[in-house]
Amino acid sequence: ETKPRTPVLWLHGLECTCCTESFIRSAHPLTKDVVLSMLSLDYDDTLMAAAGHQAEEILEEVKRKYKGQYIVAVEGNPPLNEDGMFCIQGGRPFIEKLRETCADAKAIISWGACASYGCVQAAKPNPTRATPVHKVISGKPIINVPGCPPIPEVMTGVVTYMLTFDRIPELDRQGRPKMFYGQRIHDKCYRRGHFDAGQFAEAWDDEGSRKGYCLYKMGCKGPTTYNACSSMRWNGGVSWPVQSGHGCIGCSEDGFWDKGSFYDRV
Ligand code: SF4
Ligand code: SF4
Ligand code: F3S
Repeated sequence: ETKPRTPVLWLHGLECTCCTESFIRSAHPLTKDVVLSMLSLDYDDTLMAAAGHQAEEILEEVKRKYKGQYIVAVEGNPPLNEDGMFCIQGGRPFIEKLRETCADAKAIISWGACASYGCVQAAKPNPTRATPVHKVISGKPIINVPGCPPIPEVMTGVVTYMLTFDRIPELDRQGRPKMFYGQRIHDKCYRRGHFDAGQFAEAWDDEGSRKGYCLYKMGCKGPTTYNACSSMRWNGGVSWPVQSGHGCIGCSEDGFWDKGSFYDRV
């Protein structure tokens, strides 16, 4: 209780803001407990009350005061084409703000597919040259927390781990925390028995679909997707994409937009 709370600076590049929407819905731990008791969310231009010059002053003050001690959480990515002109904040390209803020950070968290891999704005032909954070920032620990968006409890879980143990979690080859991205959706899917038995839905409204058969033939990417949806589920454990009758589109994998995830039959 006496330990100073770690400042977090949450930046937004090219993105849709649903990573924030996901984060604020965490049930275990509750987001309010993370934000009010564990970390100090000093700057988040989506959630903070301040705006404009007042907000930017806070950013500068935290960077100065807590050099080397703050965590940068990035939602979205910087577009590099035309000198970064496709994402301007405070009159400057986002890429400049990102580089300057990360320069004295202790660690960087890349939220979601946008920051981790590029996501839809980086899909071919990627007109703005949207680029993932780890390709423009170096020399700092970067934790990729992909998904579009990531599971709320995965987001707060990563933050909780870092603040509790004062270290970054063990990462896989794609820079994702192994504790949440160590298994495939397919490994824990409750429809797996149907896959093993060769029982597949072959149309969205066929008999197999109504019986809850495996969605592999409807394009489910669960066998090649590493994420915790089939074990942790969404909305506080209520449901997840496969349970709602739609196959996994592989949203926590690099380049899923260009890999035929949407409505492709195998
Ligand atoms: Fe939105 Fe997905 Fe990007 Fe998160 S990763 S900001 S949910 S488009
Ligand atoms: Fe695997 Fe998808 Fe079938 Fe589940 S629905 S068993 S994740 S292929
Ligand atoms: Fe994404 Fe697949 Fe989970 S689409 S939300 S990784 S089930």
